[in-house]
Parts: sequence; structure tokens; C-alpha cells
Amino acid sequence: MISIRTSLLLLLQHLFLMSPSAVSGSHHHRNHSLLADKAALLAFKKTIIFDPKYMLASWSEDGDVCSFTGVRCDKHRHSVVKLNLSRGAITGPLSPIISNLSGLRSLSLSENNFYGIIPPKFSSLHHLHYLFLDSNSLHGPFPEFLSVLPNLTVLSLSGNHLTGTLPPSFFSNCTSLANIDLSQNLLTGQIPEEIGNCPGIWNLNLYNNQFTGELPASLANISELYNIDVEYNNLTGELPGNIMGKLYSVVSLHLSYNNMFSHDHNTNLEPFFTALANCTELEELEMAGMNLGGRLPSSIGRLSVNLDTMLLQENRISGNDSFRNSTSLQSYSAEFDVQFSKWNHSS
Ligand SMILES: *[C@@H]1O[C@H](CO)[C@@H](O)[C@H](O)[C@H]1NC(C)=O
Ligand SMILES: *[C@@H]1O[C@H](CO)[C@@H](O)[C@H](O)[C@H]1NC(C)=O
Ligand SMILES: *[C@@H]1O[C@H](CO)[C@@H](O)[C@H](O)[C@H]1NC(C)=O
Ligand SMILES: *[C@@H]1O[C@H](CO)[C@@H](O)[C@H](O)[C@H]1NC(C)=O
Ligand SMILES: *[C@@H]1O[C@H](CO)[C@@H](O)[C@H](O)[C@H]1NC(C)=O
Ligand SMILES: *[C@@H]1O[C@H](CO)[C@@H](O)[C@H](O)[C@H]1NC(C)=O
Ligand SMILES: *[C@@H]1O[C@H](CO)[C@@H](O)[C@H](O)[C@H]1NC(C)=O
Ligand SMILES: *[C@@H]1O[C@H](CO)[C@@H](O)[C@H](O)[C@H]1NC(C)=O
Ligand SMILES: *[C@@H]1O[C@H](CO)[C@@H](O)[C@H](O)[C@H]1NC(C)=O
Ligand SMILES: *[C@@H]1O[C@H](CO)[C@@H](O)[C@H](O)[C@H]1NC(C)=O
Repeated sequence: MISIRTSLLLLLQHLFLMSPSAVSGSHHHRNHSLLADKAALLAFKKTIIFDPKYMLASWSEDGDVCSFTGVRCDKHRHSVVKLNLSRGAITGPLSPIISNLSGLRSLSLSENNFYGIIPPKFSSLHHLHYLFLDSNSLHGPFPEFLSVLPNLTVLSLSGNHLTGTLPPSFFSNCTSLANIDLSQNLLTGQIPEEIGNCPGIWNLNLYNNQFTGELPASLANISELYNIDVEYNNLTGELPGNIMGKLYSVVSLHLSYNNMFSHDHNTNLEPFFTALANCTELEELEMAGMNLGGRLPSSIGRLSVNLDTMLLQENRISGNDSFRNSTSLQSYSAEFDVQFSKWNHSS
């Protein structure tokens, strides 16, 4: 679990560093005055209640805005394009004044204590690609209004207190969305079928919410999906063989602690594992704590040769020793709490 999450983060940073600062393409639309950006940042500073690490100490009336801690301008100094105050331990309301930074491409306020709702005015940040608000104290509904941002690529709202449902309309317009992390919130209701409209999603993390209903069948249309983590929700329905059989590039599938069941009234795991054999890149399979019934089918031997973690504990699965011999999997324990190694990594 940790390894995949870490590598996603690294991949993300890689993507970010590789992306050109494409602000010049739209310069004719904008007032290039850095003065407005500076005024907005200084006004934002005034809203901060506690800044124990003095993150904002360099933000002053007579300073150069492009040299403020956490601030980056585009190379022509036309506007502020990035604000990163992550891990600042800053306390304050999440102020709508940030939306005055009209050229902003990346906003990262992760791991602070920003509170309040996500300001609807953020919908005016038209150039925003990356929005990291994870690990704060934000509440209120999911920010549906961000659907108007044409280039929003990463939306990370993990570790807040967001409530309510995930509105289908958010997914009506999501051609750029690649990474959506809503884990560790209090979101309820169904995962909208419309999510299948977002062709570029490779990370879907809904871990630890209160989602109900079935996984939407439309996920089968998101061919780039790399990580699906829906652990610790209240999802129901049959194990999603119909979806997984079409998602050839999934590397990590976390379904643990939901209320799903196997085929034939929770007695037959064969169709799911057969479908899963199509995921030839699969490295992590977590299906613990679902009260799943059935015998471990021999098709488990056809799972990806890259599989290195399979968690099946806290189910009612009965084993079949012959799978030990038929697979590239090195070892397993009787409880099916399995950490496999690949043959080619040993000896
Ligand atoms: C650009 O912004 C500055 C400062 O906010 C303002 O004085 C100026 O009139 C603006 N220019 C245009 C063309 O909007
Ligand atoms: C933010 O933008 C609004 C609308 O353009 C403007 O009225 C307001 O003065 C700006 N606030 C700051 C602090 O720059
Ligand atoms: C923000 O800065 C922190 C270090 O202070 C860094 O670890 C993180 O990757 C940065 N985030 C972005 C989106 O650049
Ligand atoms: C969105 O990205 C495209 C491609 O990089 C670019 O041409 C377009 O100007 C961007 N739109 C905005 C509003 O930044
Ligand atoms: C979809 O995006 C377009 C332009 O990017 C925007 O005009 C429209 O309002 C968006 N629709 C919704 C439902 O957000
Ligand atoms: C997948 O996309 C195709 C083509 O857009 C569509 O006809 C089909 O209904 C979609 N499948 C699901 C399960 O949403
Ligand atoms: C989730 O499922 C658990 C156990 O099945 C149940 O106690 C709880 O009320 C459910 N929560 C929601 C939000 O449906
Ligand atoms: C697995 O892939 C094969 C070959 O592409 C395809 O025919 C089959 O329908 C897939 N299985 C499922 C369950 O989708
Ligand atoms: C174990 O799996 C093998 C291969 O699929 C099958 O022939 C055998 O009957 C199974 N054994 C039991 C006890 O189910
Ligand atoms: C597995 O292979 C070993 C050695 O190749 C053999 O002794 C054993 O009987 C096999 N076990 C099963 C269940 O097929």
C-alpha cells in the first residue's frame, strides 16, 4: 500500500516538473500586473491566524513578490503561477482572496490547518492544473464548481471533513483530470456513473469514505486507470470482474473493507479472478475484510507475474494448495494474508 502511494507521489512530482510553464500561450488574455498578485498575497497573509514556522515572514510590502517564500512567477515575471505552502503548519481560513491570483497554475496548501469551505471563487482560477488541499480541516460539500476549470489535472482533497455526495455534473467536463484523491473524508452516496467520461484518470483514490452502491461500470472505459483505491467504504455488488477484465493497465486494486460478494451468491470467485488475469501489470491486490465466499480458483495462477501483494484475510475463502505450484507466487500463509515475492527477485 505504502509503496504504490509513494510511487504515485513521485510520478506526480515528475509530471509536474516536466510540464512546461505554458502560461505564455494565453498572455493576451491577461493583465500582467504583478502588483495585483502581490496585493492578493498580502491580503491573504492578513487572514492567517498562526504561522509557527514563519513561512510568510518574507511576504512584505517592500519585497519582490516573485521572491516570497512558496511563490513562483512565470519566467517573464508576468504573474504568480505557483503557490506552495505545503507542510507549513499554518492556521487560517481558506480565503477566497487566493482566487485573485488569476494566473495560478498550481496551488498546494497540503498539510496545514486551513479551515472553512473550499471557496466557490476558486472556479475563476481558469489556468489551474494542480490543486492540493489535502490534510487540512476543510468541511462542506465537494467543490462541484471546479468542473469549469478546463485544465484541472490533479485534485487532491484527501484528509479533510468534506461531506455530501460526489455530484455527477463534476464529471461532465473532465478531459484533463488525471488524479483525483478524495480519500479520508466523509463523502456519501454513489460513485457517479459519469466518472467514465474522464478518459485520462490514472489515479482514483476514494479510500475511507462512506460511498455506497456498486462501482460504476463505466470505469471500464477509463483505459489509463493505474490505481483504484476504494478501501473502507460501504460499496456493494458483485466483485467487479466486468470492469477489471477491460482495464489492462491497472497496477493497484484496493477493494478491502467493503460489502462486495463473489459470483453465484458469494460462492464462486472464478469469474473475478479470470477477469483479473487481463490486468497484466497488477502488483497489488487487496480484498480483505469483505466476507467473501468461494474457493480460491486455479485461475489465480494466471494473475500478473508482477503481483507482489495480495491481501485476502478476513474472508471465508477456502484454499486450494495446488495453486502454490501453478503460479509465480513464492509463498502464502494459511490466512491468505499474503506478501508475495516474485521468483526472479529471490536467489
Ligand atoms: C492591470 O492591473 C493594474 C493593477 O491592478 C491596473 O492599474 C491596470 O489598470 C490594469 N490594466 C489593465 C489593462 O487592465
Ligand atoms: C480581488 O479581486 C477583486 C475583483 O477583481 C477586487 O475587487 C479586489 O480588490 C481584489 N482583492 C485584493 C486583495 O487584491
Ligand atoms: C511543495 O513544497 C514541498 C516542500 O516544501 C515539496 O515537498 C512539494 O513537492 C511541493 N509541492 C509542489 C506541488 O510543488
Ligand atoms: C489549457 O491547456 C491548453 C493546452 O496546454 C492550453 O492551450 C490552454 O490555453 C489552457 N487553458 C487555460 C485556460 O489555461
Ligand atoms: C465545461 O467546460 C467549458 C469550457 O471549458 C465551460 O464553458 C462549461 O461551463 C463547462 N461545463 C460545466 C458543466 O462545468
Ligand atoms: C463506454 O463508452 C462507450 C463509448 O462512448 C459507450 O457506448 C459505453 O456505454 C460506455 N460503457 C460504459 C459501461 O459506460
Ligand atoms: C456502512 O456499513 C456499515 C456496516 O455494514 C453500517 O453499519 C453503516 O451504517 C453503513 N454506513 C453508511 C453510511 O451507509
Ligand atoms: C479479457 O481480455 C480478452 C482479450 O482482450 C477479452 O476477450 C475478454 O473479454 C476480457 N475479459 C473480460 C472479463 O473482460
Ligand atoms: C484445486 O484446483 C485444481 C486445479 O484447478 C482442481 O483440479 C482441483 O479439483 C482443486 N481441488 C479442490 C480440492 O478443489
Ligand atoms: C507441488 O510440487 C511439489 C514438488 O514439485 C510436489 O511434491 C507437490 O505434490 C505439489 N503439490 C501439489 C498440491 O500439487
